[in-house]
Amino acid sequence: MRFVRNEHWTRTAELKTFQEPETHMLNVEQVRRDFPILDVEAHAGVPLIYLDSAASSQKPTAVIEAMNQYYREYNANVHRGIHRLSEDATNAYEEARGRIGRFINAPYEETIFTRNATESINLIAYTWGRANLRAGDEILTTALEHHANIVPWQMIAEMTGATVRYLPFNHEDGTLALDQLPNYLTERTKVFAFTAVSNVFGTIMPVRALVDAAHAVGAIAVVDGAQAVPHKPVDVKAWDCDFMAFSSHKMCGPTGIGILYGKRDLLAAMPPFMGGGDMIRRVTLAGSTWNDLPYKFEAGTPSIAEGIGLGAAVDYLTELGMDNVHAHEAFITNYALEALSDVKGLNIIGPPANQRAGVAAFTLEGVHPHDIAQLLDADGIAVRAGHHCAMPLHKELGITATARASFYVHTTTAEIDALVLSLNKARKTFGY
Ligand SMILES: Cc1ncc(COP(=O)(O)O)c(C=O)c1O
Repeated sequence: MRFVRNEHWTRTAELKTFQEPETHMLNVEQVRRDFPILDVEAHAGVPLIYLDSAASSQKPTAVIEAMNQYYREYNANVHRGIHRLSEDATNAYEEARGRIGRFINAPYEETIFTRNATESINLIAYTWGRANLRAGDEILTTALEHHANIVPWQMIAEMTGATVRYLPFNHEDGTLALDQLPNYLTERTKVFAFTAVSNVFGTIMPVRALVDAAHAVGAIAVVDGAQAVPHKPVDVKAWDCDFMAFSSHKMCGPTGIGILYGKRDLLAAMPPFMGGGDMIRRVTLAGSTWNDLPYKFEAGTPSIAEGIGLGAAVDYLTELGMDNVHAHEAFITNYALEALSDVKGLNIIGPPANQRAGVAAFTLEGVHPHDIAQLLDADGIAVRAGHHCAMPLHKELGITATARASFYVHTTTAEIDALVLSLNKARKTFGY
């Protein structure tokens, strides 16, 4: 199989040839045809090289079409209509929920639709947290988290009198300082909230071991799965986590929809998050009672097209095979780390390729990350620059920002080669 290389990328003899490993099972050329945006030019005559999937992924035709079909053929509200359109919409939306749940091995009633991973974590903090946290309790998270897994805990700590503590990370490789875990995870800890994959370092965390450690002190384990679910097989029952959050838009699905997985007993004991239609069983002027799971946590008209779109995204990824998705990303990440090591003055933060997901955040001597992103953009290459919603992580490292390239099912080695060329150009532009 050959990877797509267009003229823009093949202007130089520096491009490497490569042999796909036998375990590498994605037909990337075919996969690329599934994403219409990859045919769009970044600028006139300059093809798009999209290396920003960790911020938000591109969408395959199957997802775009599933949402279009809903709006064109059976658009109606769900759960309340007796008419045909409403029944079709309800069936499509609820069938999507079932398939999304199966994707992470979660039962139907434990699969709750939210707006995104951020809302899922806020839901846990506000409902479980308000009901269970008291002054003197500790919430443990880590110093490398996305703000979505820091700020809600700070807010609920303020309300309840609990304290937030942060497990440090090893600066040299972006792994958690597990040797210090016993000092942080104690009988005072009521929640241990951590990411399964760092959105900056790319570090893949030992989730099951961290969950077991939380349970051993009687704490619940909350997993931020935003950078894990899109990229590797995830089984919440095998992890044994109490809650897990992720977003659709990072896994080929639309924005505006995410998932909270929670263990049934915990969800059943929690008060609702928001009040209104759909989440109630009975309303009287004297008070209200709550609907069954998962609807108890889903107030108001949901994001129907988006739920159907996420269902289509899960079907798409399932058809590719999550083992293949992971294998392809591991291959590309390995290739990228090696190729980027040729760029003088470039420093990649985080662990070696065999411990990281498809993310490479870096600094380039003498060039500010925002300038890097701008110069790469001129060559059609989309990367992210800034703190990536992880200001504490960057502060710990003593830097304000990094540039971040991130990879997905459609990323090719030719695109990585183009990144390397463009970075070398940027370096020369700044006289380094
Ligand atoms: C690790 C991690 N957690 C949480 C989030 C928040 O996701 P969202 O903005 O979709 O809620 C992100 C998004 O970048 C992330 O990378």
